[in-house]
Amino acid sequence: MTDVIVVEGVRKRYGDKHALDGLDLSVGRGTVHGVLGPNGAGKTTLVRILATLLRPDEGRVEVAGHDVRTDAHEVRFRIGLLGQHAALDEELGGRQNLEMFGRLYHLGARRARVRADELLERFGLGDTGRKAVKQYSGGMRRRLDLAASLITEPEVLFLDEPTTGLDPRGRAEVWNAVRSLVGGGTTVLLTTQYLEEADQLADRISVIDRGQVIADGTADELKAKTGGDRIDVVLHDAGQLGAAVALLPFDKATLSVDADRRLLSAPVTDRMTALAGAVRALEEAGIEAEDIALRRPTLDEVFLHLTGKTEEAA
Ligand SMILES: Nc1ncnc2c1ncn2[C@@H]1O[C@H](COP(=O)(O)OP(=O)(O)OP(=O)(O)O)[C@@H](O)[C@H]1O
Ligand SMILES: [Mg+2]
Repeated sequence: MTDVIVVEGVRKRYGDKHALDGLDLSVGRGTVHGVLGPNGAGKTTLVRILATLLRPDEGRVEVAGHDVRTDAHEVRFRIGLLGQHAALDEELGGRQNLEMFGRLYHLGARRARVRADELLERFGLGDTGRKAVKQYSGGMRRRLDLAASLITEPEVLFLDEPTTGLDPRGRAEVWNAVRSLVGGGTTVLLTTQYLEEADQLADRISVIDRGQVIADGTADELKAKTGGDRIDVVLHDAGQLGAAVALLPFDKATLSVDADRRLLSAPVTDRMTALAGAVRALEEAGIEAEDIALRRPTLDEVFLHLTGKTEEAA
C-alpha cells in the first residue's frame, strides 16, 4: 500500500515550547487515520503543517507525493481542510456558501453551482440549502463545513476535531458523512479527543501526547496493549461494593469502582479463571450480582494506561 501521508521526525517550536517533538506517522491510500490526543497535544499544529499553513522546524512531511516545504503549491491542489473553527458566512444560505467556496477555488459559476448542489445532496442538506447558516443546527453546520472542504474533490482530507461540541446525533451525522467519503476513495486524517470517535472511524490510530506519538496501531492493537481483557461485575446492591472489592480475587491496584453503575471492573490475565473465581467468591459471601461479563478494554482505558491520566484530567 502506498503511503499518501508521510511524517518523519517533525518538530515545531513556539518560543521554547515544543508543540511537536519528533513526531512520526504514515497513512495509507484510502484509509482513515485517527490522531488522538488531549488538549494541547499538538493535533492542530500537525494538521496545519500537513495543510501547508505552517512550516515545520525539522523533519520530513510529504502529502500525496509532494513535500510540504518545497512543493506546497502541489500539495494544496490535492487537499481539503476542515479546521477546528470553520469559516462559513452566517448570513448566507448553505448553497450560497458552497457556491462562494467554489468560486474561490476558481470553478466557473456554472460548475460551482452544480458542485454545490451535488454536495448538499450528498450530505443530506438538499432541503436546507436556502436557509441561512445561522439557523442551522450544530450537526448541519459541521456537515456543511465538510461539504465546503470537498469542493475541489481532494485526494486527501484533513479534519481537525470534526465533532467537538456536537450532541450525539450531530456526531453520528458527521460520522456517516466521513464514512461515505472514504467509500469514495478519499484518504482522511482526522484529529479527535474522543476515543470512541477514533474507534468508530479510524483504520489506524496514533495516540499523541506532548507532540509525540506514544502509541499507534489499530483500535484492537491499542486495546491489546493494555494487557488484555477486563471483567465487569455489576452488583444488585451498591452498598456491597466495598465488601466485593475486598473479597474478589483481583489486583486491588488496577481495579476500578463506579458506584453509580454498581460496577466493579478489573483487568484479568486468565479469562476463565477470573470468571469462575468471581462467581464463586460472590456466591460464598452471599453477594448478589446482576451481571458478570468479560470484555476488551475501551480506548479510554487504553489512554489512561498509556499516559497515566484520563482524557478529561489531561
Ligand atoms: N501560535 C502559537 N503560539 C504559541 N504556542 C502555541 C501556538 N499554537 C499552539 N501553541 C502551543 O502548542 C501546543 C500544541 O497546540 P495545538 O493547538 O497543536 O494542540 P491541540 O492538540 O490541537 O489542542 P486542542 O485539542 O486544544 O485543539 C500547545 O501547548 C499550545 O499552547
Ligand atoms: Mg486543536
